[in-house]
Amino acid sequence: MNILIIGGSVFLGRAFVHEAVERGHSVTVFNRGKSGPDMAGTKSIHGDRENAADLEALAAAGPWDAVIDTSGFHPRTVGRSARALSGRAGTYLFVSSFHVYDPWPAGPVDESSERLPCPPDAAVEDVPGNALKAGCERAVEEYFDGEVCILNPGLIVGPRETPGRLLWWLERMARGGEVLAPGRAEQTIQLIDARDIAEFGLDLLQTGAAGRYLVTGPKDTTTLGELLEECARVTGAGATTVWAPEDFLVEQGLGPWVELPFWALEQPAMAGAWAASPAKAVAAGLRCRPLSQTVADTWEWLRERGPADAPYRQGDAVIGVDPDKEREVLRAWRAKASG
Ligand SMILES: NC(=O)c1ccc[n+]([C@@H]2O[C@H](COP(=O)([O-])OP(=O)(O)OC[C@H]3O[C@@H](n4cnc5c(N)ncnc54)[C@H](OP(=O)(O)O)[C@@H]3O)[C@@H](O)[C@H]2O)c1
Repeated sequence: MNILIIGGSVFLGRAFVHEAVERGHSVTVFNRGKSGPDMAGTKSIHGDRENAADLEALAAAGPWDAVIDTSGFHPRTVGRSARALSGRAGTYLFVSSFHVYDPWPAGPVDESSERLPCPPDAAVEDVPGNALKAGCERAVEEYFDGEVCILNPGLIVGPRETPGRLLWWLERMARGGEVLAPGRAEQTIQLIDARDIAEFGLDLLQTGAAGRYLVTGPKDTTTLGELLEECARVTGAGATTVWAPEDFLVEQGLGPWVELPFWALEQPAMAGAWAASPAKAVAAGLRCRPLSQTVADTWEWLRERGPADAPYRQGDAVIGVDPDKEREVLRAWRAKASG
């Protein structure tokens, strides 16, 4: 196939590029050339998707059998590329997120759940951030003249991960010592490796399947305890986890999700954080590699890359608990637990 990837130089986009090249497809990548080099074996077109002239030049370089868009966040921007590529590509595969489904994270979701309200031509300032991807989906559905395939990933991990949640846990375990672990080791989590999404997305394109697929790790099979144990094992620094209950951590001013990644409060507002159903995608062929393989491969990549230049961030928030704060909370927990 002849495939265009909008983005493609960072994480999930790069996983798509790698898989497509491995399968022998002819791959064109479109990005600004700012985030890193494009992979060998691809044709690069550098330009800004926000710029009408760049989009026009891109469209003129087609046609393609499929476009894969991993870098769309704003409905108007995605609408412009969907219009520009109409008639220039057979299928538009758009990477969205599972957070477009209501009531995530408060309750279980699947493809039949309501999508958050957000029109296809919404301006960024008009709607809450979480809803923007829903507007992007609608923009592709409305303005692209061809087949549409939408993937709604849950939390994505693997080598080259952004924003760096698993990377932070691996680096924390590599520092060794007592590691503060949030809530219960038995808490189930759902993570998916970017490479599994890329394999599944390309399978869909190759078989001509369209529609929407929630892609995430299996429900109720992997626990936070297993993940942290695996991180401690591969990093080999002898780190030991100290589990502190969520009420205590909240009392200490620690926050879920970002400060201690993958920690979702076991409260009604987050009761569905790990209850998204990938059943439709699994029936269509989604296969997830074991989490142990993802952790091992990510650690290997991280060791090759070396330390990051800056803390990992999710939006404005720094990912991971500050080391001094972690020590303080561990001390307070030991004092409380012993008496
Ligand atoms: N991480 C998660 O847990 C998670 C969960 C659910 C969904 N998702 C979704 O999965 C996707 C992951 O993205 P990724 O970081 O892996 O994507 P990526 O495609 O690997 O990286 C972003 C790409 O977009 C390009 N880009 C950015 N702004 C551009 C512009 N104005 N014009 C042209 N190209 C531009 C960047 O290159 P240049 O900077 O060089 O232009 C880069 O190649 C996102 O859509 C995200 O919402 C992620």
